Amino acid sequence: MKPPRSVAQALADASRHLKQAGIADPARDARILMAHALNVERSRLTLMQPEPMPPDAQARLDSMLAARSAHQPVAQITGERAFFGHRFCVTPAVLDPRPETETLVATALEGAFRTVLDLGTGSGCILLSLLSERHAASGIGSDLSESALEVARRNAERLGIGRAEFIQSDWFSNIKGRFDLIVSNPPYIAQAEMPALAKDVFEWEPHMALTPGPDGLKAYREIVAKAVSFLHRGGRLLVETGPRQAIRVSGLFRGAGFDDVRIVKDLDGRDRVVQGRLM
Ligand SMILES: C[S@@+](CC[C@H](N)C(=O)[O-])C[C@H]1O[C@@H](n2cnc3c(N)ncnc32)[C@H](O)[C@@H]1O
Repeated sequence: MKPPRSVAQALADASRHLKQAGIADPARDARILMAHALNVERSRLTLMQPEPMPPDAQARLDSMLAARSAHQPVAQITGERAFFGHRFCVTPAVLDPRPETETLVATALEGAFRTVLDLGTGSGCILLSLLSERHAASGIGSDLSESALEVARRNAERLGIGRAEFIQSDWFSNIKGRFDLIVSNPPYIAQAEMPALAKDVFEWEPHMALTPGPDGLKAYREIVAKAVSFLHRGGRLLVETGPRQAIRVSGLFRGAGFDDVRIVKDLDGRDRVVQGRLM
């Protein structure tokens, strides 16, 4: 009788399958999907390599390999993404949280705040990461997409954070009151640049999360101009930008009356966040 296939063999086959489908990092993705199929932490995979591959796990792996071969992002397939030390639920309704957005969270945490507004909250990853570090603070996450807000509410529940409220709003249209801190990672890819995006992004992530239309700066113009009416004196506005947009966005901040305007780089040394204070 043929010996059962081992986890190591199944993993090698999975990696080959993804390579043939043109996936950029097939070995890494195969390990993530294998761990998910076996329902174990990735760190345990090495120890498990000689063990026989259970048939039910192989069936789960096969269906995940088919999805990944169609370029569905790994986080959508596994249903979660690690961000700022927490696991966030991710569906096709929200942007898959990016590591560079952690720069926005870390910069926001350099100052004090009791109230925070996160515009275009998506999965809620920014707002919920901030509130998990500031136990006395509360906040609002808003989004135009009702299906994104459902995911954000689910994440708040999952992390046990009851100090977040989620509101459907076209930027500030349904927002009332003033805040110590306003943060946003708005869509910033110009429509004309969309077809150049990787298939994983263009075909699977919500276009509303990626592009504000023909002008990549459209959302910044609206957010920066109106934020002054929603901040307390001394309050801060922080936005994530594309690396080539930060200088123009800082100009918008100064034009709207913000002081202490500065650009913060991400871990790869690219301009990533613009911050300003309302004096
Ligand atoms: C780049 S995603 C950021 C999501 C999340 N904050 C993150 O950093 O992963 C931009 C978000 O803005 C939302 N959005 C787009 N246009 C909007 C508008 N006019 N008003 C409010 N939210 C909007 C999108 O639905 C999406 O969730």
